[in-house]
Amino acid sequence: MNIKVKNNVYWVGKIDWELRRFHGNEYSTHHGSSYNSYLIREEKNVLIETVWMPFAKEFVDNLAKEIDLNKIDYIITNHAEIDHSGALPELMKYIPDTPIYCTSNGIKSIKGHYHEDWNFNPVKTGDKLPLGNGKELIFVEMKMLHWPDSMACYLTEDNIPIDIIATSHGVIWRKNPTQIVEKYLSWANAYQENQITIIYDTMWDGTKIMAENIAKGIHEADEKINVKLFNLSKSDKNDVITEIFKSKIMLIGSPTINHGILTSVAGIIEEIKGLGLKNKKAAAFGCYGWSGESIKILTEQLDKSGFSIINEGIRVMWNPDKESLERCLDFGKKIAVIK
Ligand SMILES: Cc1cc2nc3c(=O)[nH]c(=O)nc-3n(C[C@H](O)[C@H](O)[C@H](O)COP(=O)(O)O)c2cc1C
Ligand SMILES: [Fe+2]
Ligand SMILES: [Fe+2]
Repeated sequence: MNIKVKNNVYWVGKIDWELRRFHGNEYSTHHGSSYNSYLIREEKNVLIETVWMPFAKEFVDNLAKEIDLNKIDYIITNHAEIDHSGALPELMKYIPDTPIYCTSNGIKSIKGHYHEDWNFNPVKTGDKLPLGNGKELIFVEMKMLHWPDSMACYLTEDNIPIDIIATSHGVIWRKNPTQIVEKYLSWANAYQENQITIIYDTMWDGTKIMAENIAKGIHEADEKINVKLFNLSKSDKNDVITEIFKSKIMLIGSPTINHGILTSVAGIIEEIKGLGLKNKKAAAFGCYGWSGESIKILTEQLDKSGFSIINEGIRVMWNPDKESLERCLDFGKKIAVIK
C-alpha cells in the first residue's frame, strides 16, 4: 500500500494498529502507531527510513511492488532506532551496495545494531543531495532530538516540511503544520497548567485516604485548580507522567515499608528523574507504623529530581483518624494557595 504525500512523494510505511506497548514495555501507546517510510520518485529514487523489524519482510515485499528495488538510488536513515531502521537488514539483502545517507553518529548506531558495513555516506547540516528535476534534499542534524543520530531532511520545491511535516511516527501534518511546532515549543519551555497531580501507592488504604483528603483540601481552597489522583500500581505510568508534566505541583505518597517506600513509587521517581522536568514543586505524604522513613526518602528523591520542595511533607501513624484527616485537608488547602 502507498499513500501519496505530495507530487512524487509516497508513504510506504506500516500502520501498527495493535501496538500498545513500545520500546519493550517501557512506553504505552493506547491507539497503536505507525512507522513512516517515504519513497521519493524523481530522476533519483530515494527511500527515507524503513519500519520496525517485525514488519521487515512485509515492508520489503510491499516496496518491491512499488518499485524495482534495484532502482532505489539512495536510502536515507534519519534515525537509527530499530522501529525505523529495523527493516534495513532485510532490504540490504536485495540491494547491498545502495548508498545509505545518515549522520556520522547514525553510522555508529546503525553499525552498533546490525554489525554490517554497508555503503555509508555521512552527512552534516546543510549538505544537499540532488534528486533531479530541480529538487534536492537538504539535511539538518538534530542531535539529541532524540538520539545523537537524529536528523531531518527538507525536500525543496515540494516544501516538505515547511508546507508539510512528514513525521516518522503518526500523522503527517498538512493543515497548518506549524501548529505542532508551536506545541513543542511551548512544551519545551517549562510547560505548566493550573493542575496539581497527586500520586501514591498504598497497602491498607491509609495513604489513599490521605491522598483523597489532600485533594479535597485543594479543591475547597481553590476550585479552579485541576486536581488529578492516581494509584500508581493501578495506573498506566505514561498517563501518570503526562499529567505530572502538565502540573505545577506534584504530591507523592507512600507508606513506609521495610524502612523504605513502595516499589511502584520508587519506579516512577526514577522515571521522572530522567525526564528533567522544570519549574515544578512537590511534597510528600504517607502512613507509617513505627519508624516512618518514607516521607524523608521521598522528599530527598524529589529534591534530587529537580523539584522545589514545598514543605517537610505530612506523615500519619497507622490509619488516619479524624484529627489526621483534618491535617490532610489543611495540608491541601495550604498547597492550593501556593503561587
Ligand atoms: C510489610 C510491611 C512492612 C512495613 N515496614 C514498616 C517500616 O519499616 N517502618 C514503619 O514505620 N512502618 C512499616 N510498616 C507499617 C506501615 O507503614 C503501616 O501499616 C501504614 O499504616 C500502611 O499505610 P497504608 O495503609 O497506606 O498501606 C510496614 C507494613 C508492612 C505491611
Ligand atoms: Fe526513536
Ligand atoms: Fe521511533
